[in-house]
Amino acid sequence: MSQPVYPPPQDFVARAAIRADDYARLYAESVRDPEGFWARVAERIDWFRKPTRIRDVSYALDDFRIRWYEDGELNVSVNCIDRHLPTRGDKTALLWEGDDPDASRHISYRELHREVCRLANALRNLGVKKGDRVTLYLPMIPEAAYAMLACARIGAIHSVVFGGFSPDALAGRIADCGSKLVITADEGLRGGRQVPLKANVDEALRRPGTTCVETVLVVRRSGAAVPMQMPRDRWYEAVVDGQPDTCEPERMGAEDPLFILYTSGSTGKPKGVLHTTGGYLVYASYTHACVFDLKEDDVYWCTADVGWITGHSYLVYGPLANGATTLMFEGVPNHPDVSRFWQVIDKHRVTVFYTAPTAIRALMREGDAPVKRTSRASLRLLGTVGEPINPEAWRWYHEVVGDSRCPIVDTWWQTETGGILIAPLPGAIPQKPGSATKPFFGVRPALVDADGRLLEGAAEGNLVILDSWPGQMRSVYGDHQRFIDTYFRTYPGMYFTGDGCRRDEDGDYWITGRVDDVINVSGHRLGTAEIESALVAHPKVAEAAVVGCPHELKGQGIYAYVTLKAGVEGDEALRQELIQWVRKEIGPIATPDHLQWAPGLPKTRSGKIMRRILRKIAENQPDQLGDTSTLADPGVVATLVEQRMNR
Ligand code: PRX
Repeated sequence: MSQPVYPPPQDFVARAAIRADDYARLYAESVRDPEGFWARVAERIDWFRKPTRIRDVSYALDDFRIRWYEDGELNVSVNCIDRHLPTRGDKTALLWEGDDPDASRHISYRELHREVCRLANALRNLGVKKGDRVTLYLPMIPEAAYAMLACARIGAIHSVVFGGFSPDALAGRIADCGSKLVITADEGLRGGRQVPLKANVDEALRRPGTTCVETVLVVRRSGAAVPMQMPRDRWYEAVVDGQPDTCEPERMGAEDPLFILYTSGSTGKPKGVLHTTGGYLVYASYTHACVFDLKEDDVYWCTADVGWITGHSYLVYGPLANGATTLMFEGVPNHPDVSRFWQVIDKHRVTVFYTAPTAIRALMREGDAPVKRTSRASLRLLGTVGEPINPEAWRWYHEVVGDSRCPIVDTWWQTETGGILIAPLPGAIPQKPGSATKPFFGVRPALVDADGRLLEGAAEGNLVILDSWPGQMRSVYGDHQRFIDTYFRTYPGMYFTGDGCRRDEDGDYWITGRVDDVINVSGHRLGTAEIESALVAHPKVAEAAVVGCPHELKGQGIYAYVTLKAGVEGDEALRQELIQWVRKEIGPIATPDHLQWAPGLPKTRSGKIMRRILRKIAENQPDQLGDTSTLADPGVVATLVEQRMNR
């Protein structure tokens, strides 16, 4: 079956920085001579001291290291702000669009400089030093970007925690990295509703392990009356007020940590993914410029929250390092109505729009009219990230949102990769709906079978990356061994992504989804183990197993099997209670879509839960259970199947 192919439009190619022959030449160069290639790319940023040692990488388990630009010195905030001042001082750096459609602000590079310096000075005054950890639990307001950049300016390591996470999830993340200071807001505002951020911080700081926190800075956003606990809690405004407008930046080594970002894995608690300074910035800025074919006059909008890696690399660091105008949106796509995205595009004449398939699917369901009553004439390029995009949603995005004019870059990457690894450079690579297509410069993807044998040509297998790239994560915070074990032990000598993937006859990559126990709900990663441990923390639950199931809007939904303690009756009220319980323990994104009582769970004789079987039951495909002969008690499967069918 031939697949539809969308070649880059001629007028786009005419203005594009990288065309088909450039891609071929640069890609070949980048894998033939990675040192030379990445030494040249590093010149796009400003160094206090230029690196001479470009790359030092070994994936060998007994001699493991990943180092880029090791002897270079730089400061990320200087690169994102100061160096633009002579030429772009009055250019809008941050274009903020509030939850309320009447609220927006243009923050120039000069203003950004002042705000970041004042906060950086305030943090230093509060005793925050290079290497200290600072947790940010903020809504999508300019202060979120100020805070990230202020930390970067003084060498503090930020850990942004998504505002939708619960007090428990926040507490775990604060405790794991031992944060000294937390920056939050009185309340967030989303879709006209309040999010009780400060109250959540108060609750989190009552949990064990959080006594490391000395100070909580509170941004006044909604103006709600929130209790302030002295001397711990301070108003952001008050500490920043009167601080000098300039601040000496810390000289950072290229391999000094820039930030920690927690993400779910297949086992255990969320991992603190650690990114460092030089390689991360070079990679975020270069991929941002190439993948979005950035122009000086672009108004670039990435809808991701700063609580996710996309918000780090492609809302804050990449665009600002490139001197771009980056739009930050506080609200949601359906408030005040489902035209909001398109209205914002018209209001600010957005040229590049980058969002998630789950949002596209949700808006597609509302029909064409809410899109068509807006102009969107400013748009020239669209992007997606976070999960596979189904071809139907791709075509709607292309035809209805982009009026069949705008190329779509389907960008595949991960929290761990720091930046985009596979995507069609829009002026160079023909797009195929549902395929992330070709690797970025220097990236060497490959497919392996279950035994780690490399697969050639058109094939399907597990996606690995054979060599390092500068934006790669360097460690799991506080547990380097876990980093090595998680990513480099499955297939020795290779980075294992955890994703399944198909490569077609043209060498284009099609990500098929996670092959491990990670669920991708609306482009957000959740570990089954996390949800299971939330469930078993309930006094009435004996055991739980969680799997992903197909979901029309979210891509994947959460399907939980729960075994209750002896004598407890599983009725509808308890089902709802448990669903709410998980929501409260982790956050709304972890709310189970289905919860089925399981008198027993299918286990091997050694006691391992066979999720493969549970996935098939959840998908309602009982005829595809495969081999159940290794189960300790095959009878439990029949019961589960029967109950599933009767639901
Ligand atoms: O399964 C892949 C999926 O999202 C995972 C990474 O999730 P996270 O670390 O939260 O980062 C998301 C934003 C970069 C991947 O392992 N994924 C991400 N982008 C795509 C994707 N799956 C298919 N196509 C994509 N474009």
